[in-house]
Amino acid sequence: MTTLTTLSSSRQECEQCGHLLGELDPAPVCPKCGGLLELIHGDVPHAHELPARFAERRRAMSRPDASGVWRYRELVLPSVTNDVIVSHPEGNTPLIDRRRVAEFAGVERLLMKHEGHNPTGSFKDRGMTVAMTQARRTGARAVACASTGNTSASLAAYAAQAGMPALVFVPAGQVALGKLTQTLAYGAKTLLVRGNFDDCLTLARSASEALNVQLLNSINPFRLEGQKSIVFEVLDQLDWDPPEWIALPAGNLGNTSAFGKALREAYTLGLIERMPRIAAVQAKGASPFAQSFQHHFEQRIRVDPETIATAIRIGAPASWDRAVRAIRETNGVVTSVTDDQLLEAKAVIDAAGVGCEPASAASVAGVKRLRDEGVIGRSDRIVAVLTGHLLKDPGALVRYHQETEPPPPHANRPIEIDANVGAVERILDRF
Ligand code: F0G
Repeated sequence: MTTLTTLSSSRQECEQCGHLLGELDPAPVCPKCGGLLELIHGDVPHAHELPARFAERRRAMSRPDASGVWRYRELVLPSVTNDVIVSHPEGNTPLIDRRRVAEFAGVERLLMKHEGHNPTGSFKDRGMTVAMTQARRTGARAVACASTGNTSASLAAYAAQAGMPALVFVPAGQVALGKLTQTLAYGAKTLLVRGNFDDCLTLARSASEALNVQLLNSINPFRLEGQKSIVFEVLDQLDWDPPEWIALPAGNLGNTSAFGKALREAYTLGLIERMPRIAAVQAKGASPFAQSFQHHFEQRIRVDPETIATAIRIGAPASWDRAVRAIRETNGVVTSVTDDQLLEAKAVIDAAGVGCEPASAASVAGVKRLRDEGVIGRSDRIVAVLTGHLLKDPGALVRYHQETEPPPPHANRPIEIDANVGAVERILDRF
């Protein structure tokens, strides 16, 4: 294991009014103006040595260096000590190359960064390890979140590991089965709120403030620090030679913000010589950010969200301003895809033996749309992030493959047969 050099500590700064707070201040938002907080780290000494240090840690078998989040700790939470870290470990997700998916999107060089390979099956574990570590450092008595399902599954698992009581607020009847059952299994108190995600977040914010519970939604700046590691790990896997584009699904906009911050920091530190462009992709029925992008972000838009991609069924994204910054600083774009486009992309990703949950396929569907429109070039190098695992939403799979009439383009109907070889042979003959 590599030893830690002493690093200057970090501070929290309000994104609205610039008010400064110490690194260990547990305030969920700016106590002066209610703005969101951003973590600013001190100077990183010998930044040019970081890639070699990261590479050496990659060989570690034990926590925390074996984590694909804490490996990048100088850029995530430099002052943390090993004894408080709550890590599964997480990260170390693959970059997957499948020609069929690239052909579907109409591009030559597409890699999928599969965040569904995290311990609870989504990218949320990367933010959660950091936010839970911070909750422990600041002596939180309990943790909470509002969620469309993945954050709650992740929070429940990490809270169980940390021995911390956990409370989650999810929209009743709108959470995919895999996620809801995970949350129950890991032991979080699960509140089914009669309302949508935006209602859940409003309630979670006021309840956690009133009851002195630490809120671990992505408005919590420590979550974003962990999620930055998706970008660091991609760059590391590409030997710090950045792709032209990084595409990701966008809902509450925490991840878009984290990607922007990671790229800004990697560029400022000289770890990369060129900024990749972010392509943030929303579901059409829940696309306030994409609509606002059309008008140069002149207005903050709210919508009543509706999409089969329940993970990103969000109408009033919380991390709006910092996501605008991420798009502007990376010369990025925001687009949207219909549920049908999203399901078709998902079916192609699934049939390539990779698989992902519906919201995740927005990244590949978005790449296809942007390629069709000529925004993305045919030979551009692209990394599309798959944010969650195939098994998160078995209900969507059953509907697509078994129940929808007429069968959608890639439906793979199960076939009931009599128990004899002849019946099997008749099926084989159809291949
Ligand atoms: N993909 C998946 C699978 C998600 O679960 C989410 C968000 C996103 C993409 C969008 O990321 O919100 O940072 O823009 N899920 C949250 C949750 C809202 O509660 O699990 P974002």
